[in-house]
Amino acid sequence: PKLGVVLVAAGRGERLGAAEPKAFVRLHGRTLIEFGIGVATSLPHGGHLVVVVPDSHAVRALEIVEQVLPEGSEWLVSVVPGGRERHESVRFGLEALHDTVEVVLVHDAARPFATAALFERVIAEVRRTGDAVVPALPVADTLKRVDAEGVVHETVDRAPLVRVQTPQGFPRELLAAAHADAALLSGAEPGRSAPTDDAEVVQRAGGRVRTVPGEVRAHKLTTPADLALLEAIMEANVA
Ligand code: C5P
Repeated sequence: PKLGVVLVAAGRGERLGAAEPKAFVRLHGRTLIEFGIGVATSLPHGGHLVVVVPDSHAVRALEIVEQVLPEGSEWLVSVVPGGRERHESVRFGLEALHDTVEVVLVHDAARPFATAALFERVIAEVRRTGDAVVPALPVADTLKRVDAEGVVHETVDRAPLVRVQTPQGFPRELLAAAHADAALLSGAEPGRSAPTDDAEVVQRAGGRVRTVPGEVRAHKLTTPADLALLEAIMEANVA
């Protein structure tokens, strides 16, 4: 397969406070990873999906794959254990990808309602440009820079700012090379924090990152409030 999807689902989800890892929490009766596996394997022409889960949940994940994958699917699906940090989970996922994969998407299981249309938009832009591609939305709130005490120092111009989501897409070699360079992943240098998404890793390696329009419904589940928000987004069928 030429298309690869790494579905990262190995986080503990501590901010959600659920008994299970976040990707195994249910929304409308289905686990988050069911939604992620479902949308990835609905993409036409097949591909290789690597689902990265906590070690403790590998068997459960395989059972879910069996349930979700339609009979005769052109998708190859693997389950691999994740790491302590998200970037480790991504790297383990990348290492498990089939040799023939040319374009890879990295997607958070915590964004269960991202649509196939968004996946396709990202893939098309990676193929068109050969660059990294992230879904982006405008920022609605006024942004302020504050200090450790919460005192405001300035308002930050939001016009040139966007908030980005997943799936993030890459030429496979570009992302694999960037993730293989441990120096890019550390926050050890002064004034530099650890990267919080894959596009940042690629950018640190000198790659160009483009944006395509994101989706409100690709909202990430982080706190209990996001559960309510996601249910409402789905009920209202917001794009
Ligand atoms: O914790 P957060 O919501 O930022 O995690 C984003 C995504 O990365 C989630 O889908 C989570 O399961 C995944 N993750 C992972 N391995 C980790 C940490 C997070 O696969 N060690």
